[in-house]
Amino acid sequence: MNDITEDMRRYYAQRAAYYERVYFKPERQADLRAMEAWLVPVFAGREVLEIACGTGWWTPHGASQAASWLATDLNPETMAVARSKPLPACVRFATVDAYTLAELGDARFDAAFAGCWWSHVPLSRLPGWLDTLHARLEPGARVVMLDNSFVQTSSTPLTRRDAEGNTYQDRQLDDGSVHEVLKNFPEADEAIAALGPRARDPEWLAFEHYWVLSYTLA
Ligand SMILES: C[S@@+](CC[C@H](N)C(=O)[O-])C[C@H]1O[C@@H](n2cnc3c(N)ncnc32)[C@H](O)[C@@H]1O
Repeated sequence: MNDITEDMRRYYAQRAAYYERVYFKPERQADLRAMEAWLVPVFAGREVLEIACGTGWWTPHGASQAASWLATDLNPETMAVARSKPLPACVRFATVDAYTLAELGDARFDAAFAGCWWSHVPLSRLPGWLDTLHARLEPGARVVMLDNSFVQTSSTPLTRRDAEGNTYQDRQLDDGSVHEVLKNFPEADEAIAALGPRARDPEWLAFEHYWVLSYTLA
């Protein structure tokens, strides 16, 4: 299973320069504008850890009223795109493995955000990853995850489901190479059930092409 997460990291490093094309699909524009606007007040005054920030599509929206925002990713290639953007002054970057968060030292936060990351976490690693994230957060922390919903007419088709229940897509890069990527599409009750005992008042917002899950940590 570690091979699939390493393959996924490499795939996004190779895709970094044109990753944001996915954010220009015409049918997704209404959802994107609504979600970007929704994010603006959510982290007001908070010290936020962003997991797997990629090219920073969500960063300017989430960080616009934050006290501080640490955008993290394991790939320098994706973060280079994010760093090149005009961003709120509170934004900093760090190279961090989302599965361990070890590079953070003893830093703690009162909010966390992860865009289009949950779907790439193998189901068997989800509880451990959530525990690792929650251990970095203060009681009362605000947490927001958002990700893709599967839409037949817009999403890359699923090719298979493994014994654990993970689903997969074949993704083609501009150089013609094809990469198998683990991509899960949880239902609301499934995602909420995975959150663990510290998650309070989970709220699921269903858009056509995306979902947003927010909660407070006990
Ligand atoms: C689907 S992209 C999401 C990017 C961005 N958050 C967004 O919503 O547009 C997944 C990101 O995970 C990053 N990534 C892959 N493995 C990682 C790991 N172990 N730790 C942190 N980031 C990782 C990739 O570099 C990529 O930027």
